[in-house]
Amino acid sequence: MTEGRPAQSSLFNPRTRPVVPPIHQSVTYFLDDDAYKDIQAGGLDEIWYGRFRNPTVDVAAEEVRHLEEAEAAFMTASGMGAIATTLLTLLRAGDRVVAARQVYGDTRDLLVRDLPAWGFDVVQVDALDLDAWRTAVAGRPTRVVYVESLANPQLDLADLPALAEIAHAAGALLVVDNTFATPYSVQPLALGADVVVHSATKFLNGHSDVIAGVVAGRFDRVREVQRRVITLGTCLDPHAAYLVWRGLQTFELRLSRSNATARELARALAARDDVVRVRHPSLPDYERADVANRVLRRDGERVRAGAMVSFTVAGGDQRALQVMRSLEIGCEATSLGGVETLVSTPFNSSHFSLTPDERTAARIDDGMVRVSCGVEPSDLLIDDFLRALDQTS
Ligand SMILES: Cc1ncc(COP(=O)(O)O)c(C=O)c1O
Repeated sequence: MTEGRPAQSSLFNPRTRPVVPPIHQSVTYFLDDDAYKDIQAGGLDEIWYGRFRNPTVDVAAEEVRHLEEAEAAFMTASGMGAIATTLLTLLRAGDRVVAARQVYGDTRDLLVRDLPAWGFDVVQVDALDLDAWRTAVAGRPTRVVYVESLANPQLDLADLPALAEIAHAAGALLVVDNTFATPYSVQPLALGADVVVHSATKFLNGHSDVIAGVVAGRFDRVREVQRRVITLGTCLDPHAAYLVWRGLQTFELRLSRSNATARELARALAARDDVVRVRHPSLPDYERADVANRVLRRDGERVRAGAMVSFTVAGGDQRALQVMRSLEIGCEATSLGGVETLVSTPFNSSHFSLTPDERTAARIDDGMVRVSCGVEPSDLLIDDFLRALDQTS
């Protein structure tokens, strides 16, 4: 080493040994023989340029890898970055994607607008109809089967073991967006999925202060996606990665609290006459109870039913808006997974791009309110919703 030249820093400096990972802001790193070898071999074993790898981004990915019990994980610039980069990695021109109709609005736009324009064949089916999946994958060689483990916003729970079997029998890979359920409730890889994607913007980060995504799965598959991150430029910034890492330190605490609140809120809403339907996997009348029993992780007798609740008010979308606007604790805002309770109406936000008929086909009711439970005292939050319903009746 040249005199006066600083040593290349290690991830956690071995001399000062910080408890919290430093934010590695440097985009470039001193080159040595190993780095040159790595550059010439495709460049992902060593760290030498920030669009390829960054130590802080690696630290955040490692936390998610652990939660998903994956062989490997890699962070991306956003959830959409994770989804688009994964699909563009797995697909070849002309390939078919069979996807659930019940997906996040921008995922749907990617599937029905962008991918066909780029030459991919996309078929959407009802996530709950296994025969429809079987027919769609048989229609033409299928490369990817795509589903949200717990769908946004209907909270339809995917039968992941069955979908994995259908996908694999057709020679396709099962890609699962686990944003809504989170690995607290569902670990898709253990149930047969090949790749898991997330909007880490949501529950993984948990504080509504970062946009990020993550891809997890088998080492060679994640590596393939990482190579597309290099050419598509969908890498995560180290400051954002640090915030994801920090949020993940309280993941279990936050999720156990907000899951309990969601369970109580769902029960309180279901007792109301002016609420026509409540969707939450903890409720006795949850349509997918058999799947919930097989797919959701448990605490003893109880399934971990998630921190999202969707409910449908009598009076349609206009009343749903009024209810949402009468809340004092719940925040009228898009997104989900924060420590604050976030409430939205899909018809004018996440799913505005669907026509009313398309929303009905995707099982999004007229009058649906989507709630992402935060960590506020649950009694105050439930009172807030009951008061808002009373005020607007
Ligand atoms: C289920 C789901 N997947 C993906 C995304 C996209 O995530 P991001 O906003 O981080 O790109 C969202 C955003 O709301 C989502 O709800």
